[in-house]
Amino acid sequence: MRKNQAIRSGEAVVGFVPTMGYLHQGHASLMQAARQQSDIVVLSIFVNPIQFGPNEDFDSYPRDEERDVETARTEGVDIVFIPSVQEMYPQPTQTTIAVSGITERLCGASRPGHFNGVTTVVSKLFNIVQPQKAFFGMKDAQQVAVIQQMVHDLNMPIDIVPCPIVREEDGLALSSRNVYLSTELREEALVLSQALRAAQEAVDSGTAVTADDIRRLLREHIGTAAHAVIDYAEIQAFPSLEPLAGDEPLQAYEDLLIALAVKFGKTRLIDNIRIQKMEVPSLV
Ligand code: PAF
Repeated sequence: MRKNQAIRSGEAVVGFVPTMGYLHQGHASLMQAARQQSDIVVLSIFVNPIQFGPNEDFDSYPRDEERDVETARTEGVDIVFIPSVQEMYPQPTQTTIAVSGITERLCGASRPGHFNGVTTVVSKLFNIVQPQKAFFGMKDAQQVAVIQQMVHDLNMPIDIVPCPIVREEDGLALSSRNVYLSTELREEALVLSQALRAAQEAVDSGTAVTADDIRRLLREHIGTAAHAVIDYAEIQAFPSLEPLAGDEPLQAYEDLLIALAVKFGKTRLIDNIRIQKMEVPSLV
């Protein structure tokens, strides 16, 4: 009822969930948040070729359009937008959206051009869908920070809503790429969430007080997995993603992101945890 009235009065809030499909419970949580906070929910499914590097998994990226549309229906999505590559990138195309600074670190350092591909496609999707709100998962915390920066810098009238990471019961963060993992590598990949939990506990108990204490702890934990090859195991300020010097005291920061990118065989997984200073309740 509220939806119909909002549409009729022209005041409907459009909530947008951009995805590359192969939807899982993490995406479902974005659709649920969008449904709660908007009148019309739009989901896009587009495996964006320009955010993949030449040796990355664009061709093999998992796809299941039929199942995705069914999931969208179950989650109460109103419109599913599934453009083709030609529709999104009619040739010739000569415009790219690039955010500097925060895109040069972490995933940006190991995947050159990746974030230009993300910000270009997300701006195009924003222009097509014209949402008031857009929902992104915090598993890609750097992507959230980059998109927030873009929206701010380009005065896009869109509220970016970050949504919590969804995990399997054993701690593995949900990702469409988890299907690539063999049983053995999936077991090893649990080291990511275990390392992040250990880092959180070390901060809480005061056994880790500097950035290097955290980096050491992460590397020790991840090093126990036989096939793990670390791309980065880092701690930085959030959302600026400014790196912390080795001896820098963690206490000096209000909001920190501990972020991991680790390869298990050919599969590169990312995961992270936010460490935010609790507000001390005022006595007056
Ligand atoms: O997070 C993703 O799935 C993609 O990077 C996005 C935001 C849909 C852009 O292609």
